[in-house]
Formats: sequence, C-alpha cells, structure tokens
Amino acid sequence: MADLTTNIGALKLKNPVMTASGTFGYGIEFSDFVPLEEIGGIIVKGTTLHPRQGNDYPRMAETAGGMLNCVGLQNKGVDHFCEKIYPEVCGIDTNVIVNVSGSSPEDYAECAARIGALERIPAIELNISCPNVKDGGMAFGVTCEGAASVVRAVRKAYGKTLIVKLSPNVTDIVSIAKAVEAEGADAVSLINTLMGTAIDIEKRRRMLSIGTGGLSGPCVKPVALRMVWQVAHAVGIPVVGLGGISTAEDAIEFLMAGACAVEIGTANFLDPAVTVKVARGVDAWLDAHSCKSVREIIGVAE
Ligand SMILES: Cc1cc2nc3c(=O)[nH]c(=O)nc-3n(C[C@H](O)[C@H](O)[C@H](O)COP(=O)(O)O)c2cc1C
Repeated sequence: MADLTTNIGALKLKNPVMTASGTFGYGIEFSDFVPLEEIGGIIVKGTTLHPRQGNDYPRMAETAGGMLNCVGLQNKGVDHFCEKIYPEVCGIDTNVIVNVSGSSPEDYAECAARIGALERIPAIELNISCPNVKDGGMAFGVTCEGAASVVRAVRKAYGKTLIVKLSPNVTDIVSIAKAVEAEGADAVSLINTLMGTAIDIEKRRRMLSIGTGGLSGPCVKPVALRMVWQVAHAVGIPVVGLGGISTAEDAIEFLMAGACAVEIGTANFLDPAVTVKVARGVDAWLDAHSCKSVREIIGVAE
C-alpha cells in the first residue's frame, strides 16, 4: 500500500480525495453509505453569516455529461452551523473544512472569524464566486481586486489554513490566483462551476428560475484540468484540483497536472461512496506503477 498522505500547507490529509462543497451536505447525512473516516477531507456546504433561502425552483437541470444548478447557497447561517452542526461533525475522524461564502468582504471576514473559533475545524475554503452586492452583483472572484479584497479581509480575521476557491468564469485564471496568493492565501482550489444555461423548447424559456446556473460534472473536466495545470505552474502555494472528477484516473490526471489534493462534487449524486472508491483506486494505481507515495506523481505532467 502506497503512502497516500498529502499536505495543503499546514493541513495534513490521510489521502488526497475530498468532497466538494454543496454536493455532500455536512457529511453526517452520508454516514450510512460511506465510511467517512476514509475520506481525505469533507468540505461542507457553503456557509454564510446570515441564513439564506436560496433561489426559487427549478434550480437544477441535467445536461450532457453534467448538470446546471442555481441552488443559491441555501443554508441556515454560521450561528446554526456553530451551535447545531459543529457538535455532530467534530466526531468525524477526518478533516472537516467549512466553505465560507458572503456578499461583502466584511461579512466573509466575520463568518470566517466565527468558524476560526471552532477548535476541530482546521481550515476554511473561501467561495469567492459570490456576487458583490456593492458592485452591481458582479462576482468577487472575476477581478483581481475583487478577489484580493475578500482574501485581505479574511486573512486579518482568520489564522488557520485558508484555501481560496477560484471561479473559472474569467479570462486569466493565473492573474486571479496570483492576486489571492499575494494577500496571504495558503492554497487555492479550482474550479468552481462554469456559468451556463439551458432552454425548455416547449415552454420557450430558460429552464432555471434565475436563467443561468453553474455547470459541473464530467463535461467540465478538460477546462478544469487546463486551469489547474496553468495555476500550479504559476503560484508557489498548494493547488487543490476539482471539476468533473469521478474516477481514480481522473484524480491522477489532476495530481499530475500539479494538484496536491482533489475534490469530487457532482459524482457524489450518482454514488455517495465515490470519494472512497477514488482514493482506493489511486492507491491501487500507485501500487501497480511501483510508486511508494502519492507525492511522487504530483506535478509530473509536462
Ligand atoms: C448542487 C451544487 C451545489 C454547490 N454548492 C457550492 C457551494 O456552496 N460552495 C462552493 O464553493 N461550491 C459549490 N458548488 C461547486 C462544487 O463544489 C464544485 O466546485 C463544482 O461542482 C465542480 O466540481 P464537480 O464537477 O466535481 O461537481 C456546488 C455544486 C453543485 C453541483
């Protein structure tokens, strides 16, 4: 059996496969279907300072090789997380990471500070694809200054491992990655969903309630892999790769592109045990290729 341990900055993972935010609830819901302690990390659903209702239905649509969603960060807010969810998740024997979302740098920072006070949460992942209410609703993560403004505010309020999740809906992902690195991010994760739409031709209107949604699943993998390769070759901080992963071979591609760990999202809807299967598959592949450690393959692709 190969050594599967890997690090995201100071954070140590028992294996490089984590769940992606918004696709695995708080983890505890899946305890009957998958041995949670065999997952490298559980990134729980997007958490905001105040409760959010999410968008109206319909908010999901299936597409060829993937899906569109506009769930809109429905959650009961950070206080609910701290009081009701935290006591349940802190018994899980793996890293539980909270995905933090917001609508201004100040509320991201306040939310992060409250999560920072929870001893058993070693890291947060900042979702900077959220709309900036003071800037006409444009996502923070699509400009260097917008992305930097959130990381700057959060870095002052949060001392543990800070992973910044990048939006792929940009012209130059490398410049955004460098901007968040310069503000003190410990790692970047990419990609979040790609903006898309679908039309119901009988009703002659767009399928999702707000018109557009985020595209995810196998169809986004080549775009995600390209971006991970570019960012991993441009920044000095660890890169976490995701977008369309559903097999061990997919995960190995991301590791070879330069990711030190991966996340799996949409594939959880087809098989809630997929993360554990992928981790075991990576292990088998490493053994079959006489690799003693997963770290031997990180970034090897030219
Ligand atoms: C239903 C759904 C909800 C999501 N919610 C969040 C979220 O709350 N925060 C976030 O950063 N990303 C969220 N995402 C994006 C995923 O974490 C992931 O970045 C994206 O789906 C690409 O990975 P995949 O192709 O493996 O699904 C969500 C995705 C889906 C499908």
